[in-house]
Amino acid sequence: MKTVTCTAPVNIAVIKYWGKRDEKLILPLNDSISFTLSQDDMCAKTTVTISPKFTEDKFWLNGKEESLENPRIQNCLKEIRRRASKRKLEGSAEDILNWHIHICSANNFPTAAGLASSAAGYACLVYALGQVYGIEGDLSSIARQGSGSACRSIYGGLVRWHKGELEDGTDSIARPIAPADHFPNLRVIICVANSERKKTGSTDGMRQTVQTSKLMQHRIKESVVSRMESMIKAIKDKNWPAFCDLTMADSNEMHAVCQDTFPPCVYMTDTSHAVANLVHQYNDLKISQRDINHKVCYTFDAGPNACLFVPGAVVEEVLALLLFAFPPSSSQSPAEYVRGIQAHPVTLSKELTSMAGEDIESGKLMYLIHTKVGDGPRVIPDADESLLDATTGLPK
Ligand code: DP6
Repeated sequence: MKTVTCTAPVNIAVIKYWGKRDEKLILPLNDSISFTLSQDDMCAKTTVTISPKFTEDKFWLNGKEESLENPRIQNCLKEIRRRASKRKLEGSAEDILNWHIHICSANNFPTAAGLASSAAGYACLVYALGQVYGIEGDLSSIARQGSGSACRSIYGGLVRWHKGELEDGTDSIARPIAPADHFPNLRVIICVANSERKKTGSTDGMRQTVQTSKLMQHRIKESVVSRMESMIKAIKDKNWPAFCDLTMADSNEMHAVCQDTFPPCVYMTDTSHAVANLVHQYNDLKISQRDINHKVCYTFDAGPNACLFVPGAVVEEVLALLLFAFPPSSSQSPAEYVRGIQAHPVTLSKELTSMAGEDIESGKLMYLIHTKVGDGPRVIPDADESLLDATTGLPK
């Protein structure tokens, strides 16, 4: 029997992946860039066990047994086994490739709520499989075949997914471009607006956009290409204000092409727009105070939740502003409402409280997750952390 437990992070794109040039191989129409988030607050965890005693392959996800017939999981498994058999030819002793496999995965955050759970999940699965079969080299091209955005969760810090040019997709890989502390003391606040399952999943949404949106042609041929260049420069120069503007512009453009899709794919809600509006007001104040390095930026994936990137120096102020503008529902304690890194509340100036407007209503946001940028997947050596029982190979 051989077993390994791993965790893998969520990533949030600042230049979005939206649209494929190959559905089966999951090859994107444009390059994308993301921040990998800390696994202290959000991660996927997977235990993979292989044993000559197992009679069939089995898979459990978030406590429920699921079919392994899912073509995306099968593609990942196939590619892992192909690479492992190459290694075997190079001289590995046991014929472990014939052993059946048990996989148990869990996320510690809402699945399919636009919180990139599939990215962390597939990155974790592929990383754990890679460990079990001793696979060396790039795993991002395998994770990509589970879910496109998963390839970026294979690395920490700032990560670029190169769309690649080849038809077989072998050059469509992710690469780290800057470490987690590239923008020192950067914090992340995820404003969870709704944890119900989203309406149109990313896969269907982006397919419909590619098929129907004219604006998408402009994005792919022009705007995202030049924005990518500017973003790489902003990162290289550590130009935080430029980074913020490019991040917000790209999120807005992704949601514009979603709106231009026929029928429209609408992911942002009134609450999402209210958070974005608050960020712009906050930034206008910072600009008027000649404090542009304390700008904040938002980005939205295929769901209503805002992800905010916030310089550490102002994170307490921004949290206090969010609490003021989006108070928790009366049944929630502050600790239930603001999860993750603890922060000390600050008193807000009049200028800041006036940004919240007149119609402050509690319960628009379900909760906030205060976290930071982090590293790539990890092996968890502690056997107590395994999700599968060491003797039976079944979920604990
Ligand atoms: C909006 O990776 O979930 O989060 O490749 O079809 O599985 P598939 O899609 P997925 O798309 C995520 C899109 C996004 C933007 C991004 O992460 O870049």
